[in-house]
Amino acid sequence: LEKELVIAIDGPAGAGKSTVARIIADKLGYVYIDTGAMYRALTLKALNNNIALESEKELSKLAHNTDIRLAKQGENNIVLLDNKNVTTEIRSNQVSNNVSLVAKVAQVREEMVSLQRQMAKSGKVVMDGRDIGTVVLPNADVKIFLTASVEERSERRYQELISKGEEVDLEQIKTEIIRRDEIDQNREVSPLVEAEDAIRVDTTKLDINQVVQNIISICQEV
Ligand code: CDP
Ligand code: CDP
Repeated sequence: LEKELVIAIDGPAGAGKSTVARIIADKLGYVYIDTGAMYRALTLKALNNNIALESEKELSKLAHNTDIRLAKQGENNIVLLDNKNVTTEIRSNQVSNNVSLVAKVAQVREEMVSLQRQMAKSGKVVMDGRDIGTVVLPNADVKIFLTASVEERSERRYQELISKGEEVDLEQIKTEIIRRDEIDQNREVSPLVEAEDAIRVDTTKLDINQVVQNIISICQEV
């Protein structure tokens, strides 16, 4: 690449954001920032502490009093919640099914967005999420909106959970993904919407490698 870039990748659940963002960051020698992992970590803490997910006040307080960090451990990206490694735990179905309720709270988002902007300050980053191109990094050099049909996204998530040995039902996963997207798209603060200047990439019929090549080509043109 001719220039050091800030790359924003947004889109709904299962579009392939984190998979391709991680590979692109590795290829370019950039830092990968998984913003969904931050909301997931906070959700895990709320669940573990029996905090009422309807209480915006409780969740805001929790966000303010929680230390969430993304770090590298050798080759791996890890998530630290109050200094504890929760990388695996935050991917559970229970966290997936509750995270949107935590992520719609305005003060929770304020805390997370401010951390995310700090992490992106030095450039050479690939950040993925829902509001990166619209809110977190509106001046990003490259904005990608990754999508795929809901059937394909559900199938991907299903395969992923099956391979981890979780007992799951495809139709149920689909229902949960639709519900989560709906909450993300309709919340008042920073909803999931395509930025006006984003490039849309439909991954329904593409494999991971094709998506990566596609985005790298877009970056090379910048
Ligand atoms: O990997 P998956 O697409 O299932 O989810 P994720 O990227 O880990 O994000 C989990 C949830 O966090 C999303 O459904 C959103 O509710 C929330 N999120 C958000 O609100 N804003 C972001 N920038 C990233 C995630
Ligand atoms: O982060 P997001 O929720 O957008 O999706 P992901 O967790 O990166 O991807 C969900 C699953 O789809 C992963 O198991 C990927 O290996 C798989 N997948 C993909 O990401 N892209 C494709 N073109 C095909 C499959």
